Amino acid sequence: MGGRDTDMVLLDENGIRCDGRKVDEPRRIMIKAGVLKNANGSAYIEFGDNKILAGVYGPRDVHPKHMSNADTGILRCRYHMVPFSVAERKNPAPSRREIEISKVIREALEPAVMLEKFPRTAVDVYMEILQADGGTRCAALDAAAVALADAGIPMRDMVSACAAGKVADTIILDVNNEEDQAGQADMPIAYMPNLNQITLLQLDGVMSLEEYNKCIEVGIQGCKTVYALQKKALAEKYFPEEQT
Ligand code: CDP
Repeated sequence: MGGRDTDMVLLDENGIRCDGRKVDEPRRIMIKAGVLKNANGSAYIEFGDNKILAGVYGPRDVHPKHMSNADTGILRCRYHMVPFSVAERKNPAPSRREIEISKVIREALEPAVMLEKFPRTAVDVYMEILQADGGTRCAALDAAAVALADAGIPMRDMVSACAAGKVADTIILDVNNEEDQAGQADMPIAYMPNLNQITLLQLDGVMSLEEYNKCIEVGIQGCKTVYALQKKALAEKYFPEEQT
């Protein structure tokens, strides 16, 4: 969320956004489970123009051993942008931003993963951003949660993520890159749909309490839309004969 003034019309007089969407309309989302042969679980997501691969290994032995916990398994997450994922070549070394996003994704997934069933082990989640267009942390989380389920790791619930935000004093669902750069606020949300619990909530920007509540409500609706597609992706892999 840059908060910069630009000449771009983020919302026209008919309530249509810069990419043609309505205020409550998410981008096109496509999720596929089990796309990598060598990982224990994997998923690929296209979320608008974001393209992201997630691969999961584990539960497996922890190296170095002193990082293991005798009482529980540990979750390790790496969010990484490939050099060609953004307009200006991204240095492949982990940036401060990638380290932060890896941490918030881990914290958003941890409440769902039954790590206590696998003491002394680690579950590793790798997310590769192949193409970025705003909202990558949510899309990466969505793919990671499907990859965890695909790896057969017991989970209390799915974790579904989508951002809401504010442009032209209006609350919108699923903030794209232009809206992120030139809009007024961006609020990524991750949500466990059956437990009705939020596991990630960040806010970049300023909004009133009323807007804040509306933003959460709209964001959760987006998470529910994502959840249906996550379930569909897993069903397509595991129950293909039941899919029409
Ligand atoms: O991607 P997300 O919205 O979760 O995180 P952000 O830090 O708000 O980044 C917003 C967008 O900025 C990304 O999705 C990318 O499209 C873009 N970006 C970029 O162009 N170059 C970077 N080094 C990092 C981000």
